[in-house]
Amino acid sequence: MDRPAGTVLVTGGAGFIGSNLVRHLISRGDVPVVTLDKLTYAGNRLNLGDVLDNPRHVFVEGDIADDTLVARLLQTHAVGAVINLAAETHVDRSIRSPAAFVQTNVVGTLNLLEQAHLYWQRLPPSAREMFRFVHVSTDEVYGSLGRADPAFTEASPYAPNSPYAASKAGADYLVRAFHHTYGLPTLTTNCSNNYGPRQFPEKLIPLMILNALKGERLPIYGDGQNVRDWLYVGDHCQALLRVLEAGTIGETYVVGGSGELTNCEVVGMICEMLDEMHPVGKRGSYREQIAFVPDRAGHDRRYAMNAGKLRKELGWMPETNFREGLRRTVRWYLENPQWVRDVQTPEYRQWIATQYGARTSA
Ligand code: NAD
Ligand code: DAU
Repeated sequence: MDRPAGTVLVTGGAGFIGSNLVRHLISRGDVPVVTLDKLTYAGNRLNLGDVLDNPRHVFVEGDIADDTLVARLLQTHAVGAVINLAAETHVDRSIRSPAAFVQTNVVGTLNLLEQAHLYWQRLPPSAREMFRFVHVSTDEVYGSLGRADPAFTEASPYAPNSPYAASKAGADYLVRAFHHTYGLPTLTTNCSNNYGPRQFPEKLIPLMILNALKGERLPIYGDGQNVRDWLYVGDHCQALLRVLEAGTIGETYVVGGSGELTNCEVVGMICEMLDEMHPVGKRGSYREQIAFVPDRAGHDRRYAMNAGKLRKELGWMPETNFREGLRRTVRWYLENPQWVRDVQTPEYRQWIATQYGARTSA
């Protein structure tokens, strides 16, 4: 890897995408990595596995909104790049309790930018030139597409619809402003729905796998025809590393899988794979557990991403097709019952009861 010169500070590195990225960074290159993570309900040291004890890796439990801590980490570890993944990420939680989303996604990102700016200004010229701040954002900032609309590109206007999307849009604007106003060398990525190992089971795919295995209902919101553009998490991590290595400062890169599917199609494929890999026997198919429940408020109908710029400028292409990636993911959840038990804390069970208890089948 050509870049960075210095340690990579990964925020949110104990979460789903962050832990996959830290594993990539440690296995691929020879750069030191510092993970900063608050260990909210979504973060878990176990996600980092062996990497936790790797001599090139340091794990720090803390908040991206803590100015003293962030300033100390940048300085002490001679950080050459920040990759900001720390966030509150679940749309349904943002509908119930938006304040935490503003605090971490907006105020926390602002603090990271301020500390990075102060630190960067004082670097010697060669290190200043090499420094990068990569901000990891989402396709949800662009709002919702109609069935026949072209996919989102970097030129699509922002139209966030959920409190989560609005908080990510706020962070993206701050990143843009820090580049435009102070010259901080920032890059932003806007990615579509990720799936893969270690995704917290509040999100569609792991929730459906685990509910299916528990013999519980598979709650599909509304008519199940909402479309998401699914990308395997490893492909997202490769895209982030390409942007870090070779992206143009101040630019935005759309990342997506060209893997558009309705929620009904995704849940159907999970049932089909489980029927084959972990048959329910006389009970029939897991499909019998599917239940249509009242819709998410303000539910975006369709997301789709045109990652042409990333492909043309940086040579990135997703490598994993959805069926292959989903099979790998289903197998991972089947083979890691201890991880599954560990993340299903009382807080998690409370969330499931609050979110789904009142959602009777439509
Ligand atoms: P996640 O919820 O699995 O992990 C988030 C991590 O951030 C957790 O480990 C959590 O403990 C940590 N965190 C939360 N608040 C923090 C704070 N104040 N300080 C430090 N750490 C904190 O999320 P994810 O799915 O891995 O998403 C990572 C990033 O990628 C987010 O910024 C998200 O918006 C973005 N993203 C996610 C997807 C997706 O489909 N999952 C798609 C596009 C973009
Ligand atoms: O698009 C990128 C975004 O993808 C990320 O920025 C977010 O952090 C991530 O959570 C994800 O947001 P979604 O809302 O698209 O993901 P989720 O897994 O919550 O839902 C996917 C689809 O499945 C969505 O249309 C809602 C539907 N759904 C979800 C759940 C949890 C159901 O039908 N039933 C459910 O129980």
